[in-house]
Amino acid sequence: MLRSIARRQFSSTAFNPYKVTVLGAGGGIGQPLSLLLKLNHKVTDLRLYDLKGAKGVAADLSHIPTNSTVTGFTPESKESQAELAAALKDTEVVLIPAGVPRKPGMTRDDLFSINAGIVRDLAGAIAKNAPNAAILVISNPVNSTVPIVAEVLKQNGVYNPKKLFGVTTLDVIRSSRFISEIRNTDPTTERVTVVGGHSGITILPLISQTKHKSMIQGETLDKLVHRIQFGGDEVVQAKNGAGSATLSMAEAGARFANSVLAGFEGERDVVESTFVDSPLYKSEGIEFFASPVTLGPEGVEKIHGIGALSEKEEEMLAKCKETLKKNIEKGQKFVTGN
Ligand code: NAD
Ligand code: LMR
Repeated sequence: MLRSIARRQFSSTAFNPYKVTVLGAGGGIGQPLSLLLKLNHKVTDLRLYDLKGAKGVAADLSHIPTNSTVTGFTPESKESQAELAAALKDTEVVLIPAGVPRKPGMTRDDLFSINAGIVRDLAGAIAKNAPNAAILVISNPVNSTVPIVAEVLKQNGVYNPKKLFGVTTLDVIRSSRFISEIRNTDPTTERVTVVGGHSGITILPLISQTKHKSMIQGETLDKLVHRIQFGGDEVVQAKNGAGSATLSMAEAGARFANSVLAGFEGERDVVESTFVDSPLYKSEGIEFFASPVTLGPEGVEKIHGIGALSEKEEEMLAKCKETLKKNIEKGQKFVTGN
């Protein structure tokens, strides 16, 4: 019995072998995210890159008996690109949690001055070494870093909008948890559609589309929406200068990566909300928008609309779009200069 389970788990034909790279793997998110990816049987070649610490994390994870190799890459000097290139060569999925996190009193936009350059440079390396990879951007401000990656890929002639994702899954899992606390339900079965972007008022949870809409109204509704929009602040304040969400983000990132791989494998009806190059509000100059997306073998298979909104949600959507447009343009201008 044991032997047959072992054979099933380690058979080379039982699983599609996917190469996955984490950029920023030595950090607060990078480490637990890499652990969860090591536990994912869809991953067989896990590459961990960071300016520091990636080799230690890789050595540690490599002792876990799952069917993947883990390799750590750290540049030998500030200028060296060889390790980054090796970490990326022909990889199929790249997750980017590289960059600085917030401290109390900061907005995500305050991170732009440092993280924009980090993400731009990493995107350049992806364009050269893994032009067909799906890119999952975690580094904040996501509303701007995703457009930065898009512009860099365009400049390199390898932009594929079906394979670029801003990871907004943390907003989705928070919504499940927070709504279950109000309704005293099982959080694992709660589903809330969250659209827009990933910061403050651009995070738009559509509570009117849940089964709880008539039970969550007035002040309870306002508080719930505010908690979802500003859930990141709760963690930043509690960590008191030591960073922002890392463990819940690792879970969110691993869940989203698993869904992307499930889509690659041809699993049907894999739907996740994610911030993508979207037709939904392009006519209003908003090139990226998070909404439910069906994931398939080529990445984005279908971008779904956001459905019917309550009057209040319509008002929030208008404000969300105003901010989102500015955030997106800021990212684009950083790369194009105009
Ligand atoms: P951290 O400081 O603990 O880790 C970041 C890691 O990135 C560090 O190990 C650092 O060495 C590495 N790094 C920096 N520059 C790099 C480069 N050029 N190449 C490779 N690695 C590099 O921070 P963290 O808590 O892990 O957060 C990382 C980012 O994720 C932050 O920008 C944070 O705001 C963001 N974040 C996003 C979400 C989301 O929902 N999308 C959630 C939480 C945090
Ligand atoms: C979050 O939502 O927790 C992250 O975006 C990190 C942050 O800065 O709040």
